[in-house]
Amino acid sequence: MIKSRFYVTTPIYYVNDAPHIGHAYTTILADVLSRFHRALGDDVFFLTGLDEHGQKVQQAAEKRGLSPQAHCDDLAPRFTDLWKKLGIFNDDFIRTTQERHKRIVRSILQKVYDGGDIYQKEYEGLYSVAEERFITEKEAESGQFREVKTIKEKNYFFKMSKYQDRLIKYIEDNPGFIRPEHRRNEMLGFLRQPLTDLCISRPKARLSWGIEIPFDPDYVTYVWFDALINYISAIGYGSDDVKFGRFWPGVHLIGKDILTTHSIYWTTMLFSLDLPLPEVIFAHGWWLMGESKMSKSLGNVVRPLDLIEQHGVDAVRYYLMSEMNLGADANFTPENFIKRYNSDLANDFGNLLNRVSGLIAKNHGGIIPDAGVATLAEEDVASAGRALGPKVEGLIRDYKVDEAINEVMNLVRQVNKYMETQAPWKLAKTDLPAAGRVLYTATEALRLSAVLLKAVMPEKVATVLSILGVPDSGLTWGELKSGVALPSFPALFPRIEVEKKA
Ligand code: MSP
Repeated sequence: MIKSRFYVTTPIYYVNDAPHIGHAYTTILADVLSRFHRALGDDVFFLTGLDEHGQKVQQAAEKRGLSPQAHCDDLAPRFTDLWKKLGIFNDDFIRTTQERHKRIVRSILQKVYDGGDIYQKEYEGLYSVAEERFITEKEAESGQFREVKTIKEKNYFFKMSKYQDRLIKYIEDNPGFIRPEHRRNEMLGFLRQPLTDLCISRPKARLSWGIEIPFDPDYVTYVWFDALINYISAIGYGSDDVKFGRFWPGVHLIGKDILTTHSIYWTTMLFSLDLPLPEVIFAHGWWLMGESKMSKSLGNVVRPLDLIEQHGVDAVRYYLMSEMNLGADANFTPENFIKRYNSDLANDFGNLLNRVSGLIAKNHGGIIPDAGVATLAEEDVASAGRALGPKVEGLIRDYKVDEAINEVMNLVRQVNKYMETQAPWKLAKTDLPAAGRVLYTATEALRLSAVLLKAVMPEKVATVLSILGVPDSGLTWGELKSGVALPSFPALFPRIEVEKKA
């Protein structure tokens, strides 16, 4: 039975460089959420892709002496290969140079133009070459924009200002639309100033790498007007009404630096097209290195591939998902990574598995013992286990991935304590069935925790569940089967030993 629909997107990434941890983070987040929703029985569509037009890409191509298209074709596999390595299970991958996208952008431009929301005018203003857009005097004074120059040219403008009041009302009426709350307030604050119209064209004389404006061949489309449309062109807007109706509106996961383009440009474009606004725009924080943002120029970019090679893909996924509180910035440091890996995965989770399987091998002939008749101690663990699934579901539906993981780890920690107090290694000497009952309960709680971590660590959890002989088990307490032989297996999360500096 399908419970609900879940259409989730990541930003489409510029192909001006190799993907870094910031790109990997949002893509893993979308993957984790969509895996959870799929497991919950929702109708899921997960979209990611590449933003291939515009000045940044053109400049990157020029530097390499390639045509922009050849440059994009060359770099695209770096993203798709990394997603494969990271276990990303997306339903579609859109590239804005694909004809299926360009066609829809052209038809949308024509529609908005015919509807009277696009006009041409001569404009003289400050332009940030680095940001690729006209900026206000105030923005220029802030000093945050690089390569600012005065440009005078004729361009096409989208009547964003026309929709200002409607947008304010919409944001006020829909508290969960822009998240987290402080970002919503930031946007409402921004909307207190009058909105200017959006320049959506670039003269070909200045920039040729873009989608030609259908009603004026001297211009190409501004890269953001083109890129945002990917969210609907990929799911059949203008080509497959059934699919589009099935999935739109979606949930946009983005970084906080692209909140304005999503909550102001995109929403007003959708108003003009008479389409529903996205269900949620969720702006997450940045991964910082120490206190500074990761950036190529600072030379502090963490390369996801290096981490995967060193620690395995699931450890990387687990770290990124558990360390960042969605909405706030997080600090990435190798020490931090090792600390969390060792405490959560090696100690709490991995050790529990080693302990129960070791004791089952030693005292119970390697066969999962009978559940027996639960005492109060077992009831405590079982009732925590039963409550966990719905709790985690609620948190995931509310985008609280780090909290959901923490809830699961709380059960794992509770079970470790239960093992300590029940001491089945001692019990085995006097009351073997009682020792079996404890081990069954602990192993069952571990199984249930594993099931709930499957979206975060698909490979490792598949291994755990197959070791326990219940690869397809779910969230009902008691699905672990007594009488099944446990195989021997290598440590799942070997501790990372850090060399102590002398
Ligand atoms: N192409 C546009 C998005 C168009 S969506 C219709 C773009 N691309 S980008 O490649 O520059 O950035 C993509 C995303 O990466 C943004 O959401 C940005 O916030 C995110 N990150 C870039 N550096 C980051 C960190 N250090 N940490 C977390 N995310 C970061 O913008």
